[in-house]
Amino acid sequence: MKLEGLLKNNTIPQIGFGPGGMGYSPKMKKQKKGIFLFLDKVQNKLYRRPLAQNKYIDSVSSALQQGFRLIDYSSAYGDGSLIGKAIKKSGIARSELLLTTRVSNAAQRNHSVREEFFKCLEGFGTDYVDILQFHWPVTDLYLDTWREMEKLYEEGYVKHLGVANCHQHHLEAIFSICKHRPEIGQFEIHPLFTQKPLIEFYKSQDILVEAYTSLARYDDRLVRLPLLKRLEQKYHKNFIQIILRWHVQNGVIPLVRCLSKQHQKSNLNIFDFELDAEDMAHIDGININSRLRYDPDNCDFSIL
Ligand SMILES: NC(=O)c1ccc[n+]([C@@H]2O[C@H](COP(=O)([O-])OP(=O)(O)OC[C@H]3O[C@@H](n4cnc5c(N)ncnc54)[C@H](OP(=O)(O)O)[C@@H]3O)[C@@H](O)[C@H]2O)c1
Repeated sequence: MKLEGLLKNNTIPQIGFGPGGMGYSPKMKKQKKGIFLFLDKVQNKLYRRPLAQNKYIDSVSSALQQGFRLIDYSSAYGDGSLIGKAIKKSGIARSELLLTTRVSNAAQRNHSVREEFFKCLEGFGTDYVDILQFHWPVTDLYLDTWREMEKLYEEGYVKHLGVANCHQHHLEAIFSICKHRPEIGQFEIHPLFTQKPLIEFYKSQDILVEAYTSLARYDDRLVRLPLLKRLEQKYHKNFIQIILRWHVQNGVIPLVRCLSKQHQKSNLNIFDFELDAEDMAHIDGININSRLRYDPDNCDFSIL
């Protein structure tokens, strides 16, 4: 399947771009006088890269020009105005894009879901989002958040409702109170944490699955695996492309943070090969149930 044209059928691209916030990178090691040090594991050396607004805008704009159409954002990352500038700069029409935003945990705690949402719309420079999710099912609050999100949906500001970081029991609680069911959900999935049972549950409920931290943030336990090196040679693709392809063949939409143009181009180049069933099973077998982000049933929502 191709990326182009999928939106016109009101379907979703098979890979999404998650720029995250401006002041963050999984490879960030430490901050010194406004300059961030990054560990580039491809070249295996440390180098300095100033993280400036212009650079961020250029990176997001470049991702759109390279072909990404699904943007995964959250009010937890900022007010969306840099994304709005990047969209403008890219020259890609709004109607060609699928824009996601999420309700931050802070807005859930402060009961300011609506206010935050409209601030984000203004930042994006648009009058609707394609997907609205909550960022986390904040204990005791997420069902009220869902009701607020449903209002925004009914008012026409949101095309599709979704969730993030929900276990099965969170979804079941939503099903028990909702007027509109979630259509899409994201949670942590990568070869170190394959989450097969949860994926199956979402699919059984007709909820599309997005994988976040889909590359395991370049975790050493993954990137150094001999299996991936062997697959690189077999398929003539780099191991990142192989992991992204594994997600797609699992029927999951990988969200990837890739700010460099070279990575963006390479990460989209995954639709001209197919992993065979045996290799899919080998990658499944990497699983060690290693969660890199938080468990929504065991985290401190007063600070997260
Ligand atoms: N809902 C949630 O709670 C939640 C939590 C975490 C993440 N997310 C979403 O998921 C997105 C991605 O997750 P993530 O940021 O945690 O990590 P990730 O996508 O697993 O890893 C991102 C890292 O991989 C590097 N990378 C990407 N493509 C590469 C390539 N071809 N070659 C070498 N390195 C490459 C990036 O470097 P460069 O930037 O230098 O290209 C970046 O440092 C986020 O941006 C966000 O949208 C959601």
